[in-house]
Order: sequence, then structure tokens, then C-alpha cells
Amino acid sequence: MDYQELMNKAAEARDFAYAPYSQFRVGAALLAKNGKVYTGCNIENASYSPTVCAERTAFFKAVSEGVRDFEAIAIVGGKGGEIAPFCAPCGVCRQVMAEFCDVDTFKLVLGSPKQFDEYLLSDVLPFAFTPKDVE
Ligand code: THU
Repeated sequence: MDYQELMNKAAEARDFAYAPYSQFRVGAALLAKNGKVYTGCNIENASYSPTVCAERTAFFKAVSEGVRDFEAIAIVGGKGGEIAPFCAPCGVCRQVMAEFCDVDTFKLVLGSPKQFDEYLLSDVLPFAFTPKDVE
């Protein structure tokens, strides 16, 4: 699976976003080391705080199926029908990534399907607090 394909899957997953309050629609495609891809979209709620981001939807789908080893996640987002040139993952989602992924090898594929770059989790979450800290 190359990262162009992963980005395309994130864009497809974005079509399922449920974002009636913000209109900001996000899609994610999480590539597991076993080659499987888990997609996710953001799911909002009238009570606001139960809202879940696309990235966590993807992670929780995978983990709930027994998969915990991941290589990369592609993320796309934007208001309404448009995919923005760049969508940064929120801090809570970065922390969830750090729970399951090695910050020095796990990659984030960010941008749009037309133009994207790869980043390490350690680039976007320096000084991460990880499971090792509570051993
Ligand atoms: N959102 C995500 O799905 N992922 C992010 O990393 C950024 C924010 C969602 C949450 C909410 O439904 C909407 O975007 C606006 O914040």
C-alpha cells in the first residue's frame, strides 16, 4: 500500500463524516503492519463533547479488532465539500497515536490527495508521554 493510495482511502472515508455542527469533515486511513487499512471519519454529537475525531475512530476500530501494530495514518479534512490543503491532527489524537505507536517510526501522511508529506509522530508530538512513562 503506497501513501497515495492511503490518502485516497482517507478521502473516501471522509465522505462518511457526520459533522452537522462544525461542517468540518475529516477522514483517516490507518495502515496496520499486517497490511490492513482501518478507515475512520469524525462523528459529532448534539451534546458536542461526545464527538470523536476521524483518527480515533480508525484507531479504535483497529484496536477493538485486536490489531495494535501500525505503520502510518493518512488524514484529510476540510469544511463542507472541500478538502483543505492541510489538516493537522488534534492533540488528543496525537496522544492516542502515542499509546500504540513508536513515536520515532510511526508516520503521519498529511495534506491532500493532490499534495502531501510524511511526518514522524515525534515531529508533531515532541516529549511524548507514553506507556513507558507509567511502567
Ligand atoms: N476533527 C477530527 O476529526 N480530527 C482532527 O484531528 C481535528 C478535528 C474533527 C472534530 C470535529 O468534528 C471537527 O473536526 C471540528 O473540530
